[in-house]
Amino acid sequence: MNKPPYLMTARGIVKSYGPTSVLKGFDLSVAAGEVHAFLGGNGAGKSTFIKIISGQIDRDSGSLEFAPNSASSSAADASDENTIAVVNQELALLPHLTVAENIALPRSRRGYGLFNASEARRIAVDALSLIDPTFAQASVDRLVADLSLHERQLVEIARALDSGASLLLLDEPTANLTAGETERLFTVIRRLTVDKGLAVLFVSHRMREIRQIADVCTIIRNGQTTIDRVALTSITDAEIVEQMGQAALGPAAEPRAQRRPRTSGDGIDAGKPNDLRVQTDGIDLEIASGTILGLAGPPDGPEALMDALIGVSRAGKWSIARNGTAVSYRRPSTAARDGVGFVSGDRANKGILANLPIVDNLAASARIVGRKRAVRREEVAQGSDLLDALSIRAGSLWDLPATLSGGTQQKLLIARWLRLKPTVLVLEEPTRGVDIRTKQEIYALIREMAAQGAIIVWWSTEYLELVELCDTVLAFDPDGHPTSVLRGDSISEAGLAHATGMAA
Ligand SMILES: Nc1ncnc2c1ncn2[C@@H]1O[C@H](COP(=O)(O)OP(=O)(O)OP(=O)(O)O)[C@@H](O)[C@H]1O
Ligand SMILES: [Mg+2]
Repeated sequence: MNKPPYLMTARGIVKSYGPTSVLKGFDLSVAAGEVHAFLGGNGAGKSTFIKIISGQIDRDSGSLEFAPNSASSSAADASDENTIAVVNQELALLPHLTVAENIALPRSRRGYGLFNASEARRIAVDALSLIDPTFAQASVDRLVADLSLHERQLVEIARALDSGASLLLLDEPTANLTAGETERLFTVIRRLTVDKGLAVLFVSHRMREIRQIADVCTIIRNGQTTIDRVALTSITDAEIVEQMGQAALGPAAEPRAQRRPRTSGDGIDAGKPNDLRVQTDGIDLEIASGTILGLAGPPDGPEALMDALIGVSRAGKWSIARNGTAVSYRRPSTAARDGVGFVSGDRANKGILANLPIVDNLAASARIVGRKRAVRREEVAQGSDLLDALSIRAGSLWDLPATLSGGTQQKLLIARWLRLKPTVLVLEEPTRGVDIRTKQEIYALIREMAAQGAIIVWWSTEYLELVELCDTVLAFDPDGHPTSVLRGDSISEAGLAHATGMAA
């Protein structure tokens, strides 16, 4: 694998945020034509490094070298520089422009005034068609503000893939994609690396994906390189996890069979019934206290049901009953006071309160449920407990959430509900961007809440996670229609792929 010169070589990179020392002499080099997995736990410094090499933030010291671009021979693009395209972990589209404008504008050398709209449309459709031709036609004229998180992710990836850059930096690009979209993305990446010598630096916490797509890996731990350009064929999962500092998690998850039967527990208002019934055309599902219900499939179907459960939109085609009584929440605060908790998958737009300190972010749900304004002293103590409970490393409770890494912000959203013991907890991709160890911690927390009688409704695009965790799974097809209910040991990855219309 060692055949310098590399396309990009970073040596001895140092970066601190105030007193927080993140990169302490970090090295990484990327060769043309390779997919390079960049691995490390939450808060290790991956996004920080990506922002440094793409020029979004400055490094304190260290050297960064790019090889001269041998591919640019024509006079038109006779730059000596290799170009870089980046898809950041927290997406960065301009919400008030259309999809076409967002994709084409960065390429326009003429400024917005001379911008050619039909040309932009063509560029955007071509770019989006790399991943999904149907989505390309349907979305090109829409405003980015009206797109879901998942759709925005597709737009950003398409923009980067089609940019002609020689180095592509993808910071957890698959965290918001369905299995089918991830597959298509990988196909495009393979083609561009082989045909055009594109180099890809790829961040993901999903081990299986890393093995599917990457050739080599570099691992960061404590601000330094612990594994430097090692071929993925010569390192095991266990070694990777250990090198990331995530080993020794105690006993593996209990097999499903040993977890059941779960009876209505003592944690949540002992003795009170807690059941949920959801009905629509062809589906009538009664969900008992203590059940972990998975929702599988592309976003439309699961989102409509979750929105109805948490009072974001009227129930629409769903009828919902709790403890035998029909309910229709008009707003999320009503649902929250009725014991329905919700963790949004779109943390940047719907979860994190970016302008308020961590302590307020932690107390947000409790304030809504208890109709409270700030009760500072109590909240500070509880806030510290919650940080401990999920091993959230924060400078101080008074720092802003932006000072936390992506995965750590995700933990914050879950921590909000821990003390409140919701009777129904609706989770939208709660482990998005979360590292392997933290995932296990979150699974344990969810199982514990279920064991105490809570009903958990969990949407995930990662089938493995649903298989591992759920008692029952409701599967949806790509048009958003529920197709089937899988239970117990009949929940398998192949079964889910089939039920969601994603089978290969
Ligand atoms: N703007 C900032 N101000 C202060 N600290 C920051 C800032 N941005 C990041 N940090 C800190 O730098 C460290 C590295 O964060 P970074 O986002 O690079 O981690 P990461 O490896 O991308 O993690 P994740 O897998 O969760 O995305 C963390 O401790 C984080 O809290
Ligand atoms: Mg990150």
